[in-house]
Amino acid sequence: MAETILVTGGAGYIGSHCVLELLQAGYVPVVIDNFHNAIRGTGAPARLHPRAGLGSGAPHSPPSPGSEALPESLRRVQEIAHRPVIFQELDITDEAALQELFRKHRFSAVMHFAGLKAVGESVQKPLEYYRVNLTGTIRLLETMKAHGVRNIVFSSSATVYGDPKYLPLDEKHPVGGCTNPYGKSKFFIEEMIWDLCRAERDWNAVLLRYFNPIGAHESGMIGEDPQGIPNNLMPYVAQVEPPQPLGVTGRGRRRWGSTGLSLCAGGSGTPRVPERLWERLQDGRWNGCVTGRGDLGRGNLGFPDPALTLCVPTGVRDYIHVVDLAKGHIAALKKLKENCGCKIYNLGTGTGYSVLQMVRAMEKASGREIKYRITARREGDVASCYADPTLAERELGWKAAFGLDKMCKGIPSLARRALPAPCPPSPPLSSSR
Ligand code: NAD
Ligand code: UD1
Repeated sequence: MAETILVTGGAGYIGSHCVLELLQAGYVPVVIDNFHNAIRGTGAPARLHPRAGLGSGAPHSPPSPGSEALPESLRRVQEIAHRPVIFQELDITDEAALQELFRKHRFSAVMHFAGLKAVGESVQKPLEYYRVNLTGTIRLLETMKAHGVRNIVFSSSATVYGDPKYLPLDEKHPVGGCTNPYGKSKFFIEEMIWDLCRAERDWNAVLLRYFNPIGAHESGMIGEDPQGIPNNLMPYVAQVEPPQPLGVTGRGRRRWGSTGLSLCAGGSGTPRVPERLWERLQDGRWNGCVTGRGDLGRGNLGFPDPALTLCVPTGVRDYIHVVDLAKGHIAALKKLKENCGCKIYNLGTGTGYSVLQMVRAMEKASGREIKYRITARREGDVASCYADPTLAERELGWKAAFGLDKMCKGIPSLARRALPAPCPPSPPLSSSR
């Protein structure tokens, strides 16, 4: 019989891709979500395959009620998979509702995505982040325990590594140097699950540390579709329609004054940008490299030879295709079956790309020019962060398959499909340091 998996926050970006992978792998996902960052369905019926719910590998549970009850992402997942999705609107902090849910279904494992994830907001509203992320997870774990469900896959983040002491980041890298409540909540939850597995040997947990998930399913029907102004680089880039200047400045303006793309010259620390170079950067489009003696004040950046080409690097991240990430969760579910205890894996590609490389890749994928300005480094940003993903390959048999082109390709089409209204135009730019 097909296994039933509880997916918390499964209407969200990563969760919805995992629900699709679960359906396609023959599992029966039961999704809960409170619509904090998911869109309610339009009521349009999903076009299900006539044989949905029948035949081998098909769900044993009854099809979900009317599609109007479904989040839009899951309505689309149903269409792609030709399988029904079981969904219930439920807040993970609601213990009574969780108990009721666990009485209704027999779960073999839980995939736990639900939570709040905006770093900047977490600094403004720490209690809300701790309530939802920590209390919600505690209630979930307690309910699991009460109902004899002791297998969990948890969405953690590379943010637990803090400022990297070495690169690439492997799972042995020290953790806990988080500078914001969101990151701390991930770290605390990891610790909590570790302690639980240590105290009660029948628990199995796989803690997945995501690097930077981007992209969308190849159908273009699901993908990242955040409510309001996006918090991360790529969804913001995707939502900017020409001829408007690149919205990264908008994001920065909201959270950090007028900052936009980060300057991380030298790779670590926050260097001062020489005045003349700064003016040039502000001058308009800039290709990321400035050459020649005349442009730079010697020694300003500690460069030994002023004739060197100066490439002012922007932040480097390990961007990973969300479908690769979702497949990593299926591998993690299989790992739980080995009674693995508590395991931790990086889910990344092992390759770092700079913001400018990402902008170029998006230009190539979308066929349009993306205008941008270089502004000061974003507060709290690490210069470079990329994974050593070899442990996941060795122990989960999982490896990211998609490259940058594929990651960027799905993004613009989703932006057109999923966003009902265009983003408000960015106000005029002003420089800041
Ligand atoms: P998302 O916001 O798209 O999905 C989270 C879902 O959880 C949303 O649908 C939201 O409505 C739901 N939710 C929030 N609070 C809830 C509550 N109290 N009860 C029930 N549902 C609730 O985010 P995502 O990008 O899909 O991320 C999923 C998980 O992965 C999160 O835990 C996030 O912290 C983690 N993560 C994400 C990234 C990333 O870059 N997207 C990186 C590292 C880790
Ligand atoms: C952010 C979070 C991190 C979280 C991760 C995934 C911060 C400080 N960190 O990581 O905790 O786990 O998202 O949700 O928010 N950039 C610009 N201009 C912008 C916005 C971003 O140049 O307007 C750059 C950043 O400097 C960074 C890169 O784009 O180098 C990626 O940024 P982002 O998508 O926000 O992810 P992270 O900072 O890696």
